[in-house]
Amino acid sequence: MCVKMFIFAEIKIEACMKKLVALTGAGMSAESGFSTFRDAGGLWEKYPVQQVASHDGWEADPVLVNNFYNGLRKQLINAKPNRGHELLAELEKDFDVTVVTQNVDNLHERAGSSHVIHLHGELMKVCSSRDTDNPHFIEELMADNCEVKPGQKADDGSLLRPYIVFFQEAVPMISVAADEVRNADIFVIIGTSLNVYPAAGLIHYVRTGVPIYLIDPKEVGVGSSHIHFIQKKASEGMEELTGLLTAK
Ligand code: APR
Repeated sequence: MCVKMFIFAEIKIEACMKKLVALTGAGMSAESGFSTFRDAGGLWEKYPVQQVASHDGWEADPVLVNNFYNGLRKQLINAKPNRGHELLAELEKDFDVTVVTQNVDNLHERAGSSHVIHLHGELMKVCSSRDTDNPHFIEELMADNCEVKPGQKADDGSLLRPYIVFFQEAVPMISVAADEVRNADIFVIIGTSLNVYPAAGLIHYVRTGVPIYLIDPKEVGVGSSHIHFIQKKASEGMEELTGLLTAK
Protein backbone atom coordinates (compact mmCIF):
# COMPACT_ATOMS: atom_id res chain seq x y z
CA MET A 1 0.00 0.00 0.00
CA CYS A 2 2.75 2.36 1.05
CA VAL A 3 4.88 1.42 -1.95
CA LYS A 4 2.00 2.07 -4.34
CA MET A 5 1.41 5.49 -2.86
CA PHE A 6 5.10 6.25 -3.17
CA ILE A 7 5.18 5.23 -6.83
CA PHE A 8 2.04 7.26 -7.47
CA ALA A 9 3.66 10.28 -5.83
CA GLU A 10 6.77 9.86 -7.97
CA ILE A 11 4.78 9.70 -11.19
CA LYS A 12 2.91 12.81 -10.15
CA ILE A 13 6.14 14.70 -9.51
CA GLU A 14 7.62 13.59 -12.86
CA ALA A 15 4.48 14.60 -14.69
CA CYS A 16 4.90 18.17 -13.39
CA MET A 17 8.50 18.40 -14.57
CA LYS A 18 9.24 20.12 -17.85
CA LYS A 19 11.07 18.05 -20.42
CA LEU A 20 14.50 19.45 -21.24
CA VAL A 21 16.45 17.97 -24.16
CA ALA A 22 20.12 18.89 -24.59
CA LEU A 23 22.01 18.24 -27.84
CA THR A 24 25.73 18.18 -27.09
CA GLY A 25 28.86 18.08 -29.22
CA ALA A 26 32.62 18.02 -28.88
CA GLY A 27 32.73 21.46 -27.20
CA MET A 28 30.96 19.94 -24.19
CA SER A 29 34.03 17.81 -23.47
CA ALA A 30 36.68 20.38 -24.48
CA GLU A 31 37.21 21.46 -20.86
CA SER A 32 37.80 17.81 -19.98
CA GLY A 33 40.82 17.88 -22.27
CA PHE A 34 39.33 16.53 -25.50
CA SER A 35 40.05 18.24 -28.80
CA THR A 36 37.05 19.30 -30.81
CA PHE A 37 36.97 18.24 -34.45
CA ARG A 38 36.70 21.39 -36.57
CA ASP A 39 38.32 24.13 -34.46
CA ALA A 40 41.91 25.15 -35.28
CA GLY A 41 44.15 22.33 -34.04
CA GLY A 42 41.07 20.05 -33.92
CA LEU A 43 41.19 16.29 -34.32
CA TRP A 44 40.44 16.29 -38.05
CA GLU A 45 43.44 18.52 -38.67
CA LYS A 46 45.75 15.95 -37.06
CA TYR A 47 44.10 12.75 -38.31
CA PRO A 48 42.42 12.61 -41.74
CA VAL A 49 38.73 12.02 -41.09
CA GLN A 50 38.49 9.77 -44.16
CA GLN A 51 41.16 7.51 -42.67
CA VAL A 52 39.94 7.13 -39.08
CA ALA A 53 36.22 7.90 -39.13
CA SER A 54 34.77 6.69 -42.40
CA HIS A 55 33.49 3.31 -43.47
CA ASP A 56 35.96 3.28 -46.38
CA GLY A 57 38.80 4.12 -43.97
CA TRP A 58 37.87 1.15 -41.79
CA GLU A 59 37.75 -1.21 -44.80
CA ALA A 60 41.12 0.08 -46.01
CA ASP A 61 43.04 -0.22 -42.74
CA PRO A 62 41.25 -1.68 -39.70
CA VAL A 63 44.46 -1.85 -37.65
CA LEU A 64 45.10 1.88 -38.04
CA VAL A 65 41.47 2.67 -37.15
CA ASN A 66 41.49 0.41 -34.08
CA ASN A 67 44.80 1.94 -32.95
CA PHE A 68 43.34 5.44 -33.24
CA TYR A 69 40.36 4.54 -31.01
CA ASN A 70 42.61 2.57 -28.61
CA GLY A 71 44.45 5.87 -28.07
CA LEU A 72 41.27 7.87 -27.55
CA ARG A 73 40.02 5.28 -25.04
CA LYS A 74 43.17 5.68 -22.93
CA GLN A 75 42.65 9.44 -22.99
CA LEU A 76 39.01 9.01 -21.91
CA ILE A 77 39.92 6.77 -18.99
CA ASN A 78 42.14 9.50 -17.60
CA ALA A 79 39.65 12.31 -18.26
CA LYS A 80 37.01 13.63 -15.87
CA PRO A 81 33.62 15.21 -16.49
CA ASN A 82 33.80 19.01 -16.29
CA ARG A 83 31.49 21.45 -14.50
CA GLY A 84 29.33 21.70 -17.63
CA HIS A 85 28.60 17.95 -17.58
CA GLU A 86 27.91 18.14 -13.84
CA LEU A 87 25.51 21.07 -14.08
CA LEU A 88 23.58 19.38 -16.88
CA ALA A 89 23.24 16.28 -14.69
CA GLU A 90 22.14 18.45 -11.74
CA LEU A 91 19.27 19.85 -13.81
CA GLU A 92 17.59 16.47 -13.28
CA LYS A 93 16.51 17.81 -9.87
CA ASP A 94 14.19 20.28 -11.62
CA PHE A 95 13.64 18.89 -15.11
CA ASP A 96 13.06 15.64 -16.93
CA VAL A 97 16.38 15.75 -18.81
CA THR A 98 17.40 13.80 -21.89
CA VAL A 99 20.90 14.27 -23.28
CA VAL A 100 21.32 13.60 -26.98
CA THR A 101 25.04 13.57 -27.59
CA GLN A 102 27.22 13.36 -30.66
CA ASN A 103 30.11 12.58 -28.33
CA VAL A 104 31.39 9.05 -28.02
CA ASP A 105 32.84 9.62 -24.55
CA ASN A 106 30.97 8.59 -21.40
CA LEU A 107 31.45 11.85 -19.49
CA HIS A 108 27.72 12.65 -19.31
CA GLU A 109 27.05 9.30 -17.65
CA ARG A 110 30.02 9.69 -15.32
CA ALA A 111 28.73 13.15 -14.30
CA GLY A 112 25.40 11.56 -13.32
CA SER A 113 23.13 12.09 -16.34
CA SER A 114 20.70 9.19 -16.32
CA HIS A 115 19.21 9.37 -19.81
CA VAL A 116 21.84 9.72 -22.52
CA ILE A 117 21.32 8.92 -26.21
CA HIS A 118 24.57 8.46 -28.12
CA LEU A 119 24.07 9.33 -31.78
CA HIS A 120 27.58 8.48 -32.95
CA GLY A 121 28.37 5.43 -30.84
CA GLU A 122 30.33 4.82 -27.66
CA LEU A 123 34.09 4.77 -27.34
CA MET A 124 34.22 2.21 -24.52
CA LYS A 125 32.28 -0.32 -26.62
CA VAL A 126 33.30 -2.54 -29.51
CA CYS A 127 31.16 -4.52 -31.92
CA SER A 128 31.08 -6.92 -34.84
CA SER A 129 32.18 -5.40 -38.14
CA ARG A 130 29.62 -7.55 -39.97
CA ASP A 131 26.61 -6.73 -37.79
CA THR A 132 27.43 -3.47 -36.01
CA ASP A 133 24.17 -2.95 -34.12
CA ASN A 134 23.55 -6.53 -33.05
CA PRO A 135 23.54 -6.30 -29.23
CA HIS A 136 24.84 -9.89 -28.96
CA PHE A 137 28.18 -8.77 -30.33
CA ILE A 138 28.52 -5.42 -28.58
CA GLU A 139 31.02 -5.58 -25.73
CA GLU A 140 31.92 -2.97 -23.14
CA LEU A 141 35.67 -2.66 -22.60
CA MET A 142 37.14 -2.24 -19.13
CA ALA A 143 39.63 0.48 -18.22
CA ASP A 144 42.41 -2.05 -17.60
CA ASN A 145 41.81 -3.89 -20.89
CA CYS A 146 40.64 -1.32 -23.37
CA GLU A 147 42.71 -2.10 -26.47
CA VAL A 148 41.56 -3.94 -29.56
CA LYS A 149 44.49 -6.00 -30.83
CA PRO A 150 45.21 -6.46 -34.56
CA GLY A 151 43.11 -9.34 -35.88
CA GLN A 152 40.96 -9.60 -32.73
CA LYS A 153 37.54 -11.07 -33.55
CA ALA A 154 33.99 -10.50 -32.40
CA ASP A 155 31.89 -13.53 -31.36
CA ASP A 156 30.48 -13.85 -34.90
CA GLY A 157 34.00 -14.32 -36.31
CA SER A 158 34.21 -10.89 -37.96
CA LEU A 159 36.86 -8.32 -37.04
CA LEU A 160 36.14 -6.48 -33.80
CA ARG A 161 35.66 -2.78 -34.50
CA PRO A 162 34.95 0.35 -32.48
CA TYR A 163 31.24 0.86 -31.74
CA ILE A 164 31.38 4.18 -33.56
CA VAL A 165 29.09 5.40 -36.30
CA PHE A 166 31.49 6.17 -39.14
CA PHE A 167 30.80 8.68 -41.89
CA GLN A 168 28.91 6.91 -44.72
CA GLU A 169 26.99 4.84 -42.14
CA ALA A 170 23.42 5.21 -40.92
CA VAL A 171 22.70 6.81 -37.53
CA PRO A 172 20.34 4.29 -35.92
CA MET A 173 19.46 6.41 -32.86
CA ILE A 174 18.34 9.47 -34.83
CA SER A 175 14.62 8.61 -34.82
CA VAL A 176 14.68 8.02 -31.04
CA ALA A 177 16.42 11.38 -30.62
CA ALA A 178 13.95 13.14 -32.94
CA ASP A 179 11.03 11.84 -30.83
CA GLU A 180 12.67 13.25 -27.70
CA VAL A 181 13.20 16.65 -29.34
CA ARG A 182 9.61 16.69 -30.62
CA ASN A 183 8.39 16.35 -27.03
CA ALA A 184 10.80 18.85 -25.48
CA ASP A 185 9.56 21.88 -23.53
CA ILE A 186 13.08 23.35 -23.51
CA PHE A 187 15.85 22.63 -26.04
CA VAL A 188 19.51 23.29 -25.29
CA ILE A 189 22.44 23.05 -27.72
CA ILE A 190 25.96 22.90 -26.27
CA GLY A 191 29.33 22.84 -28.03
CA THR A 192 28.50 21.72 -31.52
CA SER A 193 29.23 23.44 -34.82
CA LEU A 194 26.02 21.88 -36.22
CA ASN A 195 27.93 20.83 -39.31
CA VAL A 196 27.08 17.17 -39.26
CA TYR A 197 23.73 15.71 -40.27
CA PRO A 198 21.41 14.18 -39.29
CA ALA A 199 22.26 15.46 -35.75
CA ALA A 200 22.27 19.11 -36.90
CA GLY A 201 18.74 18.69 -38.26
CA LEU A 202 17.28 17.83 -34.83
CA ILE A 203 16.60 21.53 -34.20
CA HIS A 204 13.86 21.34 -36.83
CA TYR A 205 11.87 18.95 -34.62
CA VAL A 206 11.54 21.55 -31.83
CA ARG A 207 7.90 22.63 -31.51
CA THR A 208 7.00 26.26 -32.20
CA GLY A 209 7.27 28.39 -29.08
CA VAL A 210 9.66 26.06 -27.25
CA PRO A 211 12.64 28.07 -25.94
CA ILE A 212 16.02 27.18 -27.47
CA TYR A 213 19.31 28.02 -25.71
CA LEU A 214 22.67 27.69 -27.48
CA ILE A 215 25.91 27.60 -25.50
CA ASP A 216 29.14 28.01 -27.50
CA PRO A 217 32.07 30.43 -27.20
CA LYS A 218 31.90 31.00 -30.98
CA GLU A 219 29.01 32.10 -33.12
CA VAL A 220 27.18 29.12 -34.54
CA GLY A 221 25.03 29.58 -37.62
CA VAL A 222 21.56 28.25 -36.89
CA GLY A 223 18.78 28.51 -39.40
CA SER A 224 16.26 29.45 -36.76
CA SER A 225 15.44 32.69 -34.99
CA HIS A 226 14.24 33.01 -31.38
CA ILE A 227 17.40 31.43 -29.99
CA HIS A 228 18.88 32.57 -26.70
CA PHE A 229 22.64 32.58 -27.35
CA ILE A 230 24.99 32.15 -24.40
CA GLN A 231 28.39 32.87 -25.91
CA LYS A 232 30.49 31.07 -23.32
CA LYS A 233 32.33 27.81 -22.75
CA ALA A 234 30.24 24.84 -21.61
CA SER A 235 30.93 25.18 -17.86
CA GLU A 236 30.34 28.95 -17.64
CA GLY A 237 27.45 28.71 -20.08
CA MET A 238 25.80 25.98 -18.02
CA GLU A 239 26.14 28.14 -14.88
CA GLU A 240 24.29 30.92 -16.69
CA LEU A 241 21.65 28.59 -18.09
CA THR A 242 21.04 26.98 -14.69
CA GLY A 243 20.48 30.45 -13.24
CA LEU A 244 18.05 31.35 -16.02
CA LEU A 245 16.06 28.13 -15.83
CA THR A 246 15.86 27.74 -12.08
CA ALA A 247 14.99 31.41 -11.43
CA LYS A 248 11.71 30.91 -13.30
N1 APR B 1 32.58 24.88 -24.58
C1 APR B 1 31.57 24.86 -25.48
N2 APR B 1 31.76 24.81 -26.80
C2 APR B 1 33.02 24.79 -27.26
C3 APR B 1 34.14 24.82 -26.38
C4 APR B 1 33.88 24.86 -24.99
N3 APR B 1 34.86 24.87 -24.08
N4 APR B 1 35.26 24.78 -27.14
C5 APR B 1 34.86 24.73 -28.42
N5 APR B 1 33.52 24.74 -28.50
C6 APR B 1 32.64 24.68 -29.68
C7 APR B 1 33.24 25.19 -30.97
O1 APR B 1 33.12 26.60 -31.04
C8 APR B 1 32.38 24.46 -32.02
O2 APR B 1 31.22 25.21 -32.34
O3 APR B 1 32.34 23.32 -29.93
C9 APR B 1 32.00 23.16 -31.32
C10 APR B 1 32.72 21.95 -31.81
O4 APR B 1 32.36 21.69 -33.14
P1 APR B 1 32.93 20.42 -33.93
O5 APR B 1 34.41 20.33 -33.70
O6 APR B 1 32.46 20.51 -35.32
O7 APR B 1 32.28 19.17 -33.14
P2 APR B 1 30.82 18.56 -33.28
O8 APR B 1 29.84 19.58 -33.72
O9 APR B 1 30.55 17.81 -32.04
O10 APR B 1 31.03 17.52 -34.44
C11 APR B 1 29.95 16.68 -34.81
O11 APR B 1 31.31 15.49 -36.36
O12 APR B 1 33.35 14.65 -36.84
C12 APR B 1 32.09 14.32 -36.43
O13 APR B 1 31.36 12.42 -35.32
C13 APR B 1 32.05 13.64 -35.10
O14 APR B 1 30.37 13.82 -33.39
C14 APR B 1 31.22 14.55 -34.25
C15 APR B 1 30.43 15.34 -35.27
